[in-house]
Amino acid sequence: MSSANNLTIGLFGFGVVGEGIYQILQQTPSLQASIRKICVKHPEKPRNAPASLFTTDAALLLNDPEINVIVELIDNADDAYSIVTTALKSGKAVVSANKKLIAHHLPELLQLQEQHNVPFLYEASVCGSIPVIRNLEEYYDNDLLRGICGIVNGSTNYILTKILAEGLPYSKALQQAQDQGFAESDPTLDVEGFDAVNKLTILLAHGYGIVANPDELLTRGITQIHAFDAGYAAEKGFQIKLTAQAKKLSNGDVAAFVLPQLVTDESQLFAVRNEYNGVVIESSFSDKQFLYGKGAGRFPTASAVLSDISALRYQYRYEYRKLKSEQRPNLTDDFYLRVFVSYAADGDVERNDFEFIEEAYLNDKRQFFIGVIRFSKLKEAQWLRKPQVSLLVCPNGIIESIELRQLKKRSLELAGVNSLAGAYLLN
Ligand code: HSE
Repeated sequence: MSSANNLTIGLFGFGVVGEGIYQILQQTPSLQASIRKICVKHPEKPRNAPASLFTTDAALLLNDPEINVIVELIDNADDAYSIVTTALKSGKAVVSANKKLIAHHLPELLQLQEQHNVPFLYEASVCGSIPVIRNLEEYYDNDLLRGICGIVNGSTNYILTKILAEGLPYSKALQQAQDQGFAESDPTLDVEGFDAVNKLTILLAHGYGIVANPDELLTRGITQIHAFDAGYAAEKGFQIKLTAQAKKLSNGDVAAFVLPQLVTDESQLFAVRNEYNGVVIESSFSDKQFLYGKGAGRFPTASAVLSDISALRYQYRYEYRKLKSEQRPNLTDDFYLRVFVSYAADGDVERNDFEFIEEAYLNDKRQFFIGVIRFSKLKEAQWLRKPQVSLLVCPNGIIESIELRQLKKRSLELAGVNSLAGAYLLN
């Protein structure tokens, strides 16, 4: 696309974000980007835009030689796949916010960009208004990036805030997240952590050059978090946040997962409330940096779409330098996690799966323990899938294999057992 060209947009979807970008473009004439046609599924719905703009015929946009940019903002990932791949194949630049599509089809989408020499931008797909993809892509060299730990789903953060800080029941908090347009059409994607793991997959590609299959990353959402856990967190002065994490271990491999986490007030994520997202990026020499902003909602998300449209003006495209690098790190399951586990009754959790248990408590309704478990074992554990079992990663819960023995020893000494063969040593 030449910089002299105006951007003539074919827009797919006129939902929360689609209407947002339409309104924003009306207010930014300097961008010289205009919407030529909008393809929607339900033409009968009343819309705040001239009726002549709308069609239900995707081909009208995809085959229009005047349209040089397709902006895809629908939520059905299968339909989005066909729109985006057709557009790329016909040499049109594409802007999308569809994290599910991108996470599940990354290798093919990378190939199409290369093959047809077209830009495909998707800043709005991760953390709404926060420019996290471009930062990871442009700024952090692979060697510099030690870790990414983020609240990347606005709906679950909104729900947790409403329940834990304001005492709202779960169903009401979820309803509010839906009413405000934060949640996916199928909110299971939010509350079970699938949206977050799709976003983590995109962060892994731009942060570390790792193409991961989101279905293979350990993922839990917020539905199993119990009032008992909230009581524990409140007593200790912790927040509970759903976090997506990727951490480079000392051997260069990368640990990654989406799990709810106990967060102390020393973490920048502690004060991230409601639909806000936050990402702590840890790098080798600058220590921690924190990106913060609205992660969902009409205008915050549309602002990231606008920024991508605007970047097309100066021929911006992702270079995927880390993906193309010879020294790409590998994902690993060879590390340990310190976790808080609460459950209803003896036998709900396989305690023998744990390397050691540091603390345990029970009352007549529920019990918990804090223990250290090998990540690969946790990933396979059937007990983790039980609805009555809740697991929260402890603060700084990632433990490297080389740290384990020392930690185990210290933990046993603290428990008054000075031998590695003590009563607390379960394995
Ligand atoms: N449902 C998503 C969220 C929308 O709540 O974060 C933004 O990606």
